[in-house]
Amino acid sequence: MITTNIAQAKEALMQNDVVAIPTETVYGLAGNAFSETAVKKIFALKKRPFYNPLIVHIGSAEQLQEIALDIPPMAMQLAKAFWPGPLTLLLKKQSSIPDLVTAGSTMVAVRMPNHPLTLQLLQALPFPLVAPSANPFTSISPTNALHVYQYFKEEVPVILDGGACSKGVESTIVGFDEKGPVLYRLGALALEDIEAVTHMPLRIMNNAQHNRPDAPGMLGRHYAPRTVTYLTDNVEELLQQFQGKKIGLLLWKAKINPNNHYSIYYLSANQNMEEATSNLYALLHDLDKQELDVIIAERLPNEGLGRTINDRLQRATRQAE
Ligand code: TXA
Ligand code: MG
Repeated sequence: MITTNIAQAKEALMQNDVVAIPTETVYGLAGNAFSETAVKKIFALKKRPFYNPLIVHIGSAEQLQEIALDIPPMAMQLAKAFWPGPLTLLLKKQSSIPDLVTAGSTMVAVRMPNHPLTLQLLQALPFPLVAPSANPFTSISPTNALHVYQYFKEEVPVILDGGACSKGVESTIVGFDEKGPVLYRLGALALEDIEAVTHMPLRIMNNAQHNRPDAPGMLGRHYAPRTVTYLTDNVEELLQQFQGKKIGLLLWKAKINPNNHYSIYYLSANQNMEEATSNLYALLHDLDKQELDVIIAERLPNEGLGRTINDRLQRATRQAE
């Protein structure tokens, strides 16, 4: 059921049931991070392979000590600067975290989400929550409660409705090695903003080609609509190629003459990258429902959140495989 009642969500979580929770990035499928029963239910619902680890969500800075060890000073600096917010840190895990959560890794991913309902819920619970995005494995992440319901119906007993997600794409994931900070997944926090705090560039972990990558958010095909999708700098050229087909257009700034075969959407009318990011998945969900032959997406400038949007659109295409 879809509800705004935190007590109901809490009750289900206390029984090691799964609850969909709103965050500022995307909706998550949440469960007790310390309970293997709850964690297994999440994997089963998502049809997610066990090699793909989960992010632990906390409601206060103190909770971090229960979860992680030997936290690098730079991680603390980033947490101070961006939590609650769309930044996930990869840290050495405490033994309290079941191996199932981290897929056997000694590292655990942690973040403090910035959503009033979910922060209240986390603060009312005696345990942190694991929460992958609330979508079946590899499909588009949900950015409102209805998206979650459409995917899982009554299989998820409680969907906590916190409205549309303000950021609209997943958190940025950052880890650390002896040489400094490493980017594991582009996300809702721009690299430039992180580097303004680290004062050093993030090295990019690019393992998109692996079948068992360190961060499966980097898997080749992910975040994908069912409709065949293309990403291009030259929209006109692809329109020529698909003449006569029913085409969905997801545009940044290209000017296209409307016609009966086209379903045209702009990510942001005045090319605001934050707005574009928050609209991205909802528009992909919409386009995917329209029984189109093909979706053509226009590439954004490769800077700030444009980089994140291009990354997700690239993974939505078939060429990425
Ligand atoms: O914004 C978000 O991060 C959302 C909301 C719900 O918080 N969650 C999310 O979770 O995107 P998920 O499971 O869809 O993506 C988590 C990513 C995966 O690619 C996973 O492999 C990576 O984080 N990850 C989690 N734990 C990890 C670990 N121990 N080592 C390496 N990567 C890890
Ligand atoms: Mg996901």
